[in-house]
Amino acid sequence: MKRIAILTSGGDAPGMNAAARAVVRKAIYEGLEVYGINYGFLGLVNGNIHKLELGSVGDKVQRGGTFLYSARYPEFATEEGQLKGIEQLKKHEIDGLVVIGGDGSYHGAEALTKRGFPTIGIPGTIDNDISGTDFTIGFDTALNTVLDALDKIRDTATSHERTFIIEVMGRDAGDIALWSGLAGGAEAIIVPEEKFNMDDIVGRLNKGRERGKKHSIIVVAEGVMSGNEFASRLAEYGDYHARVTVLGHVQRGGSPTAFDRVLASRLGARAVDLLLENRGGLAVGIRENKIVENNITEILKEKHHLDDDMFKLASILSI
Ligand code: F6P
Repeated sequence: MKRIAILTSGGDAPGMNAAARAVVRKAIYEGLEVYGINYGFLGLVNGNIHKLELGSVGDKVQRGGTFLYSARYPEFATEEGQLKGIEQLKKHEIDGLVVIGGDGSYHGAEALTKRGFPTIGIPGTIDNDISGTDFTIGFDTALNTVLDALDKIRDTATSHERTFIIEVMGRDAGDIALWSGLAGGAEAIIVPEEKFNMDDIVGRLNKGRERGKKHSIIVVAEGVMSGNEFASRLAEYGDYHARVTVLGHVQRGGSPTAFDRVLASRLGARAVDLLLENRGGLAVGIRENKIVENNITEILKEKHHLDDDMFKLASILSI
């Protein structure tokens, strides 16, 4: 292994830059050459490949987004796309690849390894929906962004005695909703992994009202339904002075938290170690504060699970 490359793919996540920096600097420290591929797998197929030096990743650790740019490129699922990608890697005499991204990006990394090109996956997505790791890069930052919004919304909800429905991202996973809801004391948390019953939610709101509590926060994960749809359903039960806030892409931006920067640095360095050992087809992760690696095919088969105990706790604490 003499020359490796790195790309970021799918939805960006705060901390991707810190991970890329770790890959570049650890690789150069180990005597490797590093190339950056812009725009994920799309850039790979188009040969958008350039050399990275130590200085290329200076002033990046604190920045959100990804300086390598990102793209969603479903065409990489085709044989044609994968063969074109490998052709570009060979043309640039690259021996190993690091892919930072979520589920879709892992499929690309798996495909390349199956075709004989050693590729390592680093979990980078705000959704925290990748198996084999307790946390994905970007989740903690997104969570804190949501929490900041939730705290602010509670101020105005209290002043006006309103019910606020906050729609958060997460695709099919409820982690952002659960963690922000628990941390922000939401009266109800609606996630795809747990069934909910509108009668119960309304019962909760009414109970709160009976004891003089007239404002409420309900966090709805986008994977269940939109905040507006939830508000319409709630309106069938009476007037709860509901207002909807859709946080949207603000959740994907901003300077990464210390947690995300440290996680990204540790995962990036381990990815380089694995390539140095000539191992591909692995995804790095963190488990009980230890950096681990797992077979990427196994990770893709496993379903990510929401923490049931935490969900129950959030419900107990919000009575
Ligand atoms: O996977 C990250 C994510 O932000 C999801 O939470 C969300 O559903 C999706 O990406 C939005 O994608 P896009 O930026 O392409 O609209």
